Amino acid sequence: MQRVVCPGSFDPVTNGHLDIIARASGLYDEVVVAVLINVTKHSLFTVDERVEMLREVTARYGNVKIDRFHGLLVDFCANNGISAVIKGLRAVSDFEYEMQMAQMNYRMAKVETMFMTTNPLYSFLRSSLVKEIARYGGDVSGLVPDIVLARLRDRLAEELRPGPPAVKLGLPRTAGRLSARSAKLLTRVHCHAPYTHQSPARRARLRLALARPPGRLRTDPAAHCASPG
Ligand code: PNS
Repeated sequence: MQRVVCPGSFDPVTNGHLDIIARASGLYDEVVVAVLINVTKHSLFTVDERVEMLREVTARYGNVKIDRFHGLLVDFCANNGISAVIKGLRAVSDFEYEMQMAQMNYRMAKVETMFMTTNPLYSFLRSSLVKEIARYGGDVSGLVPDIVLARLRDRLAEELRPGPPAVKLGLPRTAGRLSARSAKLLTRVHCHAPYTHQSPARRARLRLALARPPGRLRTDPAAHCASPG
């Protein structure tokens, strides 16, 4: 049985990923789509959510299985009887990094890497761009499956919804204990860009603003973000 792994973060899965998965499913007996569990990377969707979306969008392919892994990809391959990785190559810019990983994986465990050129329709597509465009109100329909589009809208709406729970918004845990006024102020600041996307200096200013008693908060939220950080 020829089994191949298609690894990635899939935060979230795009039509470019789906194109590679679908084409691989026509070439191999089984395609295992493996979601990397990376606790150090800030992600928009949890691993469970990413796995669930992948299951839904690949349901029509009988030989595609969704799994998750942490640690080395070659260990996941060894534990699952997989001898090859399949990757989409969008442009020359992808090549150098992908080649390093491919050669390292081969060196470590003789795991082969098969590269598939991306459908030109999706050669500019990556999950991080999709998230950024959607976050600022751009149209990403046609770039991600419809169910992902709906989840993306819901998740970003949650991010922008005023008031606690602030932790969901990426604000420090203390923000959840703010007065309604402070939370509203910080949420308005936050709307320009999530707290986690602010520079360290701006984060520090936001934390200072959080520490002030509500009565002494500056009323102009832009004041916390305006100066270059
Ligand atoms: O979608 P991404 O984030 O570009 O996917 C990268 C991924 C998951 C394929 C790569 O980071 C990976 O294989 N990580 C597992 C850890 C590992 O094996 N590292 C050594 C690679 S030589």
